[in-house]
Amino acid sequence: MTRRFSGIKPSGEMHLGNYAGAVRRWVDLQDDSIYCVVDLHAMTVPYEPAELTAETRRLAMLLLASGLDPERCILFVQSHVPLVAELTWVLNCIATVGELRRMTQFKEKGRGQESVSAGLLDYPVLMAADILLYDTDEVPVGEDQIQHVELTRDVATRFNHRFGDTLVVPKATVPPVGARVKDLQDPTAKMSKSVDSPQGTILVLDEPARITKKVKSAVTDSETEVRFDVGAKPGISNLLSLLSVATARPVPELEAEYGTGGYGTFKGAVAEALVEYLRPVRERYHELAADPGEVTRCLALGAEKAEAIASATMDRVRAATGLLPLR
Ligand code: TYM
Repeated sequence: MTRRFSGIKPSGEMHLGNYAGAVRRWVDLQDDSIYCVVDLHAMTVPYEPAELTAETRRLAMLLLASGLDPERCILFVQSHVPLVAELTWVLNCIATVGELRRMTQFKEKGRGQESVSAGLLDYPVLMAADILLYDTDEVPVGEDQIQHVELTRDVATRFNHRFGDTLVVPKATVPPVGARVKDLQDPTAKMSKSVDSPQGTILVLDEPARITKKVKSAVTDSETEVRFDVGAKPGISNLLSLLSVATARPVPELEAEYGTGGYGTFKGAVAEALVEYLRPVRERYHELAADPGEVTRCLALGAEKAEAIASATMDRVRAATGLLPLR
């Protein structure tokens, strides 16, 4: 069996980029897989404690609503398995400050800040620990996380070279379409919860009317042809990708159908498809919200199963690195 592991940060609401780029695939590939709400990663930038608690629960509920089934996969909260912090320390002594400074996300998040936390620099090492702690073969992510998975591979390979074959070296997988969903108002930037672009970001829990409004006001271009060309037509290309993701139809087929029908008709079809794509998640979320005990039970079960895998890995890591056994 191929073991998959992936995570999502509880900061800001889950958006269409997270869903199309990652979560939807997690649901399709959930057997023998491990998915995690990475609350420790959300602490690397300033945040409100009460909000972190609420968002962690909400996100876990959204993942269940998306179709993750605790009978088939392991769903848990990162901090509930504290061994990840121990492995992070060990890997901190393998990763170099130089390679961490080169990470695009660190440069982007640190830009213009007077000071950043050491946690922000160390973020990819915590992510590597997540992945390596669970003997992961594949990491299903959106395109923006590939660099972090590459770093994980480098660190694991270096570890194995230094201490003997101990860690499974994972690889990233991205979806054929939807790996980089763009902001509807700025289709050259990725859709993101941290960017202040509420009109450009479709949230998974947005009501149908809101989704339609956002799609209808999406930035396009001054031509009239619906054609996929990221360089010349980033807005239309983004909408084509979204329509393709939501309808599971290939882009060329959509170009043939909507090519000359005008942007208005095309946007109407995109809005309708996205509403239907997200509708089951929103409806199930509201059902789950009525039973908060259920999510607590799922997460406790998930943490217990995750802990069993993690502790076996840490035993190997301790033995390989020369840490004195407790008994
Ligand atoms: P996060 O919370 O930013 O995003 C969760 C997932 O959503 C994907 N994603 C996108 N995909 C397509 N288009 C977009 N506009 C878009 N925006 C986000 C991300 O690629 C990701 O797959 N560092 C990670 C969380 C993490 C993790 C891990 C992931 C922590 N530990 C271990 C994999 C394995 C992050 O911040 O994701």
